[in-house]
Amino acid sequence: MPYHRFLPSDSHSNFNNLVLPSNYTDDELKVIESLPTPLLVIDCEQIRQNVRAIQQALPGVGVYYALKCNPDAEIVRTLAAMGIGFEIASQQEAQYLLQLHVPASQIVCFHTIKSPAFLQFLHAHQIDIVAVDSAEELYKIALYAPNSRVVVRVEVPNDGSVVDLSGKFGIAPQDAPQLLVQAQALGLRPYGITMHVGSQCVELAAWEKAVRICMDAWAETRRLGLELRLFSLGGGLPVPYRKPIVSLADIGSVITKHELNGLHDGQGAVTVEPGRAIAATAGTMVTSIIGIARRASGLWAYLDVGVFNGLMETLLNNDYEFYPLLVSGEDRPTVRYNLGGPTCDSVDTPFRNVELPELRIGDRLYVLHTGAYSASCAGSFNGFFPPSVVYFNKTKQTDAGGSAVPSGAPVQDIHGLPSHDMEEITTWER
Ligand SMILES: Cc1ncc(COP(=O)(O)O)c(C=O)c1O
Repeated sequence: MPYHRFLPSDSHSNFNNLVLPSNYTDDELKVIESLPTPLLVIDCEQIRQNVRAIQQALPGVGVYYALKCNPDAEIVRTLAAMGIGFEIASQQEAQYLLQLHVPASQIVCFHTIKSPAFLQFLHAHQIDIVAVDSAEELYKIALYAPNSRVVVRVEVPNDGSVVDLSGKFGIAPQDAPQLLVQAQALGLRPYGITMHVGSQCVELAAWEKAVRICMDAWAETRRLGLELRLFSLGGGLPVPYRKPIVSLADIGSVITKHELNGLHDGQGAVTVEPGRAIAATAGTMVTSIIGIARRASGLWAYLDVGVFNGLMETLLNNDYEFYPLLVSGEDRPTVRYNLGGPTCDSVDTPFRNVELPELRIGDRLYVLHTGAYSASCAGSFNGFFPPSVVYFNKTKQTDAGGSAVPSGAPVQDIHGLPSHDMEEITTWER
């Protein structure tokens, strides 16, 4: 099957050898081509490779997958079988993981705003490592989830990232030690410090600065007489979409430099909670061209996926340079396109002014590195449904713990997204 290695001409040269992720075999490509679009293809082997890369770059650091970025059951099973933990933000996510037989001890909740009902649920199910960044939240935790282990989220600069999370979350670093003291006074267990440099943090200096800020807060907390046990680096590990990024190895060297593994003479653990760095490059969104129009504003092609039903993250970048694009088909001259999503809303324009081979109705366009924050953020606005999902999984997992799944109904995917005959496809031989 002819696959063009293609990128818009204004892209960065380090992606010259772009191919579909994981170098799908011809047989796998045939399966992909045979399925209707929109379709999100997930390669679980790529998930495993991404985890191994993180573990290699951050040796000794515990990995907790941020479930929000792609909660699909096959990904959960793949990660749980590797001993990876999970970071959650809602009762639905907690219930879902427990249903997939993920042990409570492998789940942490680093969302700093939790409803009373959610806290009660966490408490009842012994999920007891929770984040906090305000006194008000601390009172709530003491009331609804007494004896929890409390990790304070410290605000750090997010200026090296594509998605800025500062402002909405985090306590000023100088106030963090006192919040931990207060936690103890309320009968909670002061347990650690967490941060978030913002999602897709591409600058090494931002990681260095954030770790330094947290280590200062850690040292001050110790001076106040508290022994902490956990330093969490949060999310933010970057993905090589289309722009140069700091390497995982360089981020790892920041950790080594600060000797985090020696926190409290080996008593303190370090964790990281990546989402996109695990899931993004494992996903390929397969879309079809459903319309073409020549307008005063340029040449437009319309896809069956847009910002509302799978490509929400294209809204993050004004320069429309988030995802690499790939087109299949014979050689054709290239033309500049605006790519619209399927809905009637003009916000729904995932890519502008990109150079592509001349498109025809029915052509397929592959949007690479779409495993994170794509289907999980999709809705059905205007009646255009999220993509169905298909997996390739060389090593089929039986359940989250690696043992046999009790017989009974299969676990409903958290978003109820339609998926194809998983049994047939996930056991596809390479
Ligand atoms: C508390 C927390 N941890 C981890 C993550 C994962 O971030 P990322 O996907 O950038 O790794 C998020 C995402 O927003 C988050 O809110």
